[in-house]
Amino acid sequence: MAKTSSIFICQQCGFQASSYLGKCPECGNWNTFVEQLDESSKLTAQTSKRISAGKVEYLQDVEKQHYQRLSTGIGEFDRVLGGGIVKGSVVLVSGDPGVGKSTLLTQLALNVNSEQLGKTQKVSDSDKPDFRTAGLPSHSELFRTVLYVAGEESAQQIKIRTDRIEKNANIPILNEVDVDIINATIESLKPSLVIVDSIQTLHTQDLTGVAGSVGQVRESAHRLQRVAKELHIPIFLVGHVTKEGVVAGPRTLEHLVDVVLSLEGDSTSQFRILRANKNRFGPTDEVGIFDMSESGMLGIENPSALFLETKQNAPGSAVVPVLTGLRPILVEVQALVTKTNFPMPRRTGSGVDNNRLQLLVAVLQKRLKLPLWDQDIFVNVTGGLKITEPAADLAICMAIYSSFKDITLPKDSAYIGEVGLLGELRNVSRIEKRAAEAKKLGYKRVVSPEKFKSITDVTTSLLK
Ligand code: TYD
Ligand code: MG
Repeated sequence: MAKTSSIFICQQCGFQASSYLGKCPECGNWNTFVEQLDESSKLTAQTSKRISAGKVEYLQDVEKQHYQRLSTGIGEFDRVLGGGIVKGSVVLVSGDPGVGKSTLLTQLALNVNSEQLGKTQKVSDSDKPDFRTAGLPSHSELFRTVLYVAGEESAQQIKIRTDRIEKNANIPILNEVDVDIINATIESLKPSLVIVDSIQTLHTQDLTGVAGSVGQVRESAHRLQRVAKELHIPIFLVGHVTKEGVVAGPRTLEHLVDVVLSLEGDSTSQFRILRANKNRFGPTDEVGIFDMSESGMLGIENPSALFLETKQNAPGSAVVPVLTGLRPILVEVQALVTKTNFPMPRRTGSGVDNNRLQLLVAVLQKRLKLPLWDQDIFVNVTGGLKITEPAADLAICMAIYSSFKDITLPKDSAYIGEVGLLGELRNVSRIEKRAAEAKKLGYKRVVSPEKFKSITDVTTSLLK
């Protein structure tokens, strides 16, 4: 294969160099050089002959496209994708190491694989479009299924994981890191779905950088994307987010791919949230909620019930419907307020923002005249969920109030609302939706800014 030459381009000012430079001589920035293929070497006979005037068309003449989708076999996954996997789409699945990316995608591989082999029909989606046979040349039946490209783990390691999910499962694995070999394999096997785990391990010989460098990651993704579009094969790419979020960061890929999903979750909790940060074929406000079980990720149909499963009616507990995506989910906020032994009392939140907690404690001290200055305050959101919404302010305040006063809040109440610095209750989005979810689970009394003006109003109403 003829060696294509590569150049290094400063991402700040566009300065070009033939080798890597730490500091750009043009703009003076550090670590801005990224390797790219030399554009002039791209002008081979193959590409130059394609150049002719482009086709311009009126939107009116463009037919509305109905995307053909393949079900993942996992309801929560389909929901986040907007109804299934679109033919020829490139989906980036990002997340911290160990969060469960490989597990989820192995399950996807198993579902697609077993379904296509006709072994087990896991999806009962009757009107699901069938593009498996459309236009595919005949190959071995096995390989018209899924292809799992493993750059990170050996086939043995994948076997161990797959065994946890489904005994004696059989999926085709390609242990390869050279993106050009991977592409050649995809072109020859024409699977209906490709999973690449992970994009950071791939490289092309055309660039000199090491696997994981921005240039290699970008070029590898680019080449995979081209094959996906040409052959209409959907490709899932796993992308790691490093602590620093730099070099291996899949951020550089986000504009390249069609869908960006992020899998989030605390390693100490079993819940995982799958979110769409970008979706060319569907909404971005849907989330999927999973339980990381002993045998893979299980979609949770009714998260509220699960989060409140162990809720006890005791002082220090308050319930709030928070929004994850568009879905309201009921969670329990717990607080423990005890006399401190330190000159500086502690305010520790887990699942809530610490600065927000400090602020709410100050509001409680000032507006409700609670002497919290000599009290340690711990706040926890059960189930390991992280609350970022101000809509949970009232519930946090009420949990603290209830623990400090050692009184149990009415067992059928849920609390919604942002608390302002003056102690006033402020409106939050989708109150009706949240209230409806609360009522569905038996929390009939919804305390919200619609009925109460301030935090003082809420606490005095408790005494009535
Ligand atoms: P993994 O999917 O390898 O994470 P990632 O690819 O995002 O780095 O899974 C990470 C953890 O999940 C690992 O510690 C083992 C655990 N796990 C389960 O709890 N249940 C399972 O069925 C499997 C396969 C893994
Ligand atoms: Mg992995």
